[in-house]
Amino acid sequence: MKAAVYYETGPPEVFRYEDVPDPVCFAGGVLVQVEAISVEGGDTLNRAGGEMTATPHIVGYQCAGTIREVGEGVEDRHVGQRVVATMFAGSHAELVAVPALVTWPIPEEADIVSVACVPVAFGTADDCLFEFGHLRPGETVLIQAGAGGVGLAAIQLAKRAGATVLATASSDDRLERLRPFGLDHGINYSDADWVNAVRKVTSGRGVDLAVDSVGGSVLLGSVQCLAYRGRCITVGNAGRNPQPLDVSVLAMGNHSLTGVFLGAEIGNERARAMIARHVADVAAGRLHVVVDRTFPLAEAAAAHAYLESRQAVGRVVLVP
Ligand SMILES: NC(=O)c1ccc[n+]([C@@H]2O[C@H](COP(=O)([O-])OP(=O)(O)OC[C@H]3O[C@@H](n4cnc5c(N)ncnc54)[C@H](OP(=O)(O)O)[C@@H]3O)[C@@H](O)[C@H]2O)c1
Repeated sequence: MKAAVYYETGPPEVFRYEDVPDPVCFAGGVLVQVEAISVEGGDTLNRAGGEMTATPHIVGYQCAGTIREVGEGVEDRHVGQRVVATMFAGSHAELVAVPALVTWPIPEEADIVSVACVPVAFGTADDCLFEFGHLRPGETVLIQAGAGGVGLAAIQLAKRAGATVLATASSDDRLERLRPFGLDHGINYSDADWVNAVRKVTSGRGVDLAVDSVGGSVLLGSVQCLAYRGRCITVGNAGRNPQPLDVSVLAMGNHSLTGVFLGAEIGNERARAMIARHVADVAAGRLHVVVDRTFPLAEAAAAHAYLESRQAVGRVVLVP
């Protein structure tokens, strides 16, 4: 098969488009012919400096396609079935072998490109807001990096749950594009005074919950935006800023800080059912995936560079 591979981590130029051996279907797994690859924020971080499981390494958490082979013991998937799949690596390829447990059937009427972008973004957003963030109707939530894949999912889910939704982005134009999805107040965090802007919008009170996928100095800002007894979720490091957080900032307001990793939940029944509901909602048009641009798989380097340039609103997709 063809795949976008790299021999060392680094900038997008490390990608090579090469022939590599086909993956082998295993017991409990399915072999998927890939038709749409959702480039995740984590894929760019892995390519830049993450762990390599082989040399060359095929990066990528998520894709959708058609099942070509079903492994021993798999009763609920069949050849020819369209699925969206998650994996720790391997999406940037024409074929991928994955445990059947982390695949979700794609409803007949659904657009495969949209559904290819659902499990990680919506699963992460849902866990941050509800399973670990305990968001309740009427509360106020701040979603950092609202124009990213996780951010756009979180805005929609928080709004649907009856919250007042604040989100950040690096420009006013990007914030404007989030309004149709449920954004109540946009905060441009390239303005140095953005924490005060959040305080002002909340009449000085702060937010009940902050969902932070940016980390570093932005994570400190998230904590500073919390109301008394407010909760902060740390879920990523998109800002590539290793500044550590001094946890003593939590005590005065009785604040809490919780880490979230979807990968530790995704195989359990609760998370799988939750993701299946989001697949159904996107298929039916009740939730929306925004695909900013698509690139051929052979141009994985350009796709990653575009995502890292912070111009994309929503997802960048690769097509083999
Ligand atoms: N823990 C988990 O289970 C889990 C699951 C999914 C994702 N994540 C993490 O969550 C983060 C977001 O994922 P995603 O898929 O939503 O990513 P994405 O679609 O690439 O969005 C990332 C957003 O971060 C903002 N950003 C801030 N500083 C940036 C920088 N220096 N370079 C690039 N973007 C920057 C950008 O918006 P602005 O330009 O508007 O700031 C961008 O829209 C990633 O760190 C990812 O690894 C974690």
